[in-house]
Amino acid sequence: QKHLITLQDYSQDEIYQVLSTAFDLKKKLKANIPHPYLKGKTLGMIFTKSSTRTRVSFEVGIYQLGGYGLFLNASDIQLGRGETISDTARVLSRYLDGIMIRTYKQQDVEELAKYSSIPVINGLTDLLHPCQILADLMTIYEKKGTLSGLKLAFIGDGNNVAHSLLIGCTKVGMDISIASPKGYEPKEEIVKMAKENGKATGASVSITNDPVEAIQDADVVYTDVWASMGQEHEFESRAKVFGPYQVNKELFSHAKGDAIFLHCLPAHRGEEVTDDIIDGPQSVVFDEAENRLHVHKAIMVLLMGDK
Ligand code: CP
Repeated sequence: QKHLITLQDYSQDEIYQVLSTAFDLKKKLKANIPHPYLKGKTLGMIFTKSSTRTRVSFEVGIYQLGGYGLFLNASDIQLGRGETISDTARVLSRYLDGIMIRTYKQQDVEELAKYSSIPVINGLTDLLHPCQILADLMTIYEKKGTLSGLKLAFIGDGNNVAHSLLIGCTKVGMDISIASPKGYEPKEEIVKMAKENGKATGASVSITNDPVEAIQDADVVYTDVWASMGQEHEFESRAKVFGPYQVNKELFSHAKGDAIFLHCLPAHRGEEVTDDIIDGPQSVVFDEAENRLHVHKAIMVLLMGDK
């Protein structure tokens, strides 16, 4: 059974297959061509954390594909009262055709997949955010016409988005440079993994504490919130060290003249990014958010479809 737990499990060809399916589905939607490839199928969506983009785009996506979306708030189902993940997986596999889960621990998603006989999709954990990065790669390809050979600079916390960018970019041959404050760098095991990927695709990986060094000559500039979900209590201490990592006009001026700006959203305007950048002509953040829909549909078609 194929799942989407981490992009590390996907080859470069498989990533491109998701992207080309997403482009095809986007074209069909814009042209009002029906595409009920998952007619009668049901996706269960387990959430233990809040979400706007992931929830709405998966739910709308499965409807557009002719199927049904079932929202399962973890606190409303027995999982929230201690039923094991393995039993939950075995039971849900009898009712559903696929599960998307957003939760804290990556191991919980792995456990769910291990005991499911239906595809499991990782809708974000504290470690990884693979669906987001597929939409990011789609957006970059759409704007730049290529992925391989481009440089992406991620400025901010070495979080789940940074981790999945490290994996996704190096799988498709994009150079990636990450600037985080000391103590907030991405996990060493993920950096190592990305460097190994880069050996096969020619992509370079650099981790620094200097945002100007990271952003130099970047084709894509990316940032994310300073305190992710579950870290809100750390916001004050983080805000003190993240100040110099704000993507503003001065910092952005070190990227290439035609660089695009990405943010997975939600954005904390005036913190990690200024209004003039996120609302500026080089920002593609709302196309990026839209592409979550097309990419999620592609993932569901490829994992839950009959072919
Ligand atoms: N970027 C992202 O995952 O958005 P949501 O938290 O709204 O799903």
